[in-house]
Amino acid sequence: MAKKALITGVTGQDGGHLAHLLHEKGYEVFGIIRGQRNPKREVFEAEFPFVQLIEADLLDTSSMVRAVQLSLPDEVYNLAAVSHVGYSFMNPQLTAQVTGQGVINILEAIRLSGAEKSVRFYQASTSEMFGGLAYNRPEKGYDESSIFHPRSPYGVAKLYGYWSVVNYRESYNMFAVNGILFNHEGPRRGVEFVTRKISNAVARIKLGAQKDLHLGNLDAKRDWGYAGDYVEGMWRMLQQDTPSDYVLATGETHSIRDFLDLAFNEIGVSDWSSYVVLDKAFERPAEVDLLLGNPAKAEKELGWKRKVDFPALVKMMVEHDLSIEGAKL
Ligand code: GDD
Repeated sequence: MAKKALITGVTGQDGGHLAHLLHEKGYEVFGIIRGQRNPKREVFEAEFPFVQLIEADLLDTSSMVRAVQLSLPDEVYNLAAVSHVGYSFMNPQLTAQVTGQGVINILEAIRLSGAEKSVRFYQASTSEMFGGLAYNRPEKGYDESSIFHPRSPYGVAKLYGYWSVVNYRESYNMFAVNGILFNHEGPRRGVEFVTRKISNAVARIKLGAQKDLHLGNLDAKRDWGYAGDYVEGMWRMLQQDTPSDYVLATGETHSIRDFLDLAFNEIGVSDWSSYVVLDKAFERPAEVDLLLGNPAKAEKELGWKRKVDFPALVKMMVEHDLSIEGAKL
């Protein structure tokens, strides 16, 4: 019989990649969709006719119980969250409820359904739980034992979710794991995130549809990989004999300036300074200055390694945006 998976956040970047991966692997895929007449539904169904959508909301545990009982999943992937760090500063309580408390709600939904012994649970934890250079400076990058020091309402909420997963594993012997994922990007990324904001703007500048690009802190460094590679790691975590938490990362770090260099280079511009406008509106009250992950444990135990490197990622994103933005003209 085909395995069944339930994905929250299925309409997001990782949800899309994961739905494709699980479908290819022969899973019956269920996804949670939130809200009445969600405008994302039509577009989603056109690309993912194989995903069975269930209307539910992480904030409503009874609806999550219903989703678990309807789908009877072998695996649950909790990818839903208020996921934008900047937005979380403006909506800290909502972020706490969805990104933090939401984890408990779905874990409880699994328990209330009596499925805590049969379900394997993946939690989308994040490198935003680490604080940057001032708080911890591991030589080979942050790993599973590095100290946490979140610097945003988003990071704080994610840390609550992280410890909830550990606690449910220890308290109820659940197969529940945290994937501590460093930034992962690609053409499915929303334009509110810096990589896609840049690739999209670069394409539009090339096509004459946009003049400049407003950005905040250009000196932050991130460990950027390709989202398509990372969902494979999520799945592998749930195929292990024993549950454990894993960092997924590339082991390289690059600044926003590095991303700008490569992206503008794709359209033949070597000096992007006249296109980029520094704009305080995109700065954050507190910033994580540097993220660098050490994926040694995942490489060893899961046999996982990222395939797409940084230059290939930037190229993929700019080429994609040139093609979709070109088609709009
Ligand atoms: N979004 C955005 N927009 N970020 C900007 C901008 C801008 O105009 N200008 C500079 N930045 C800087 C941010 O200050 C940050 O240092 C960096 O670009 C990356 O920002 P984002 O792309 O928004 O990602 P993030 O690192 O804050 O968070 C992402 O990665 C996390 C994993 O570490 C999100 O996907 C999180 O959900 C995820 O957990």
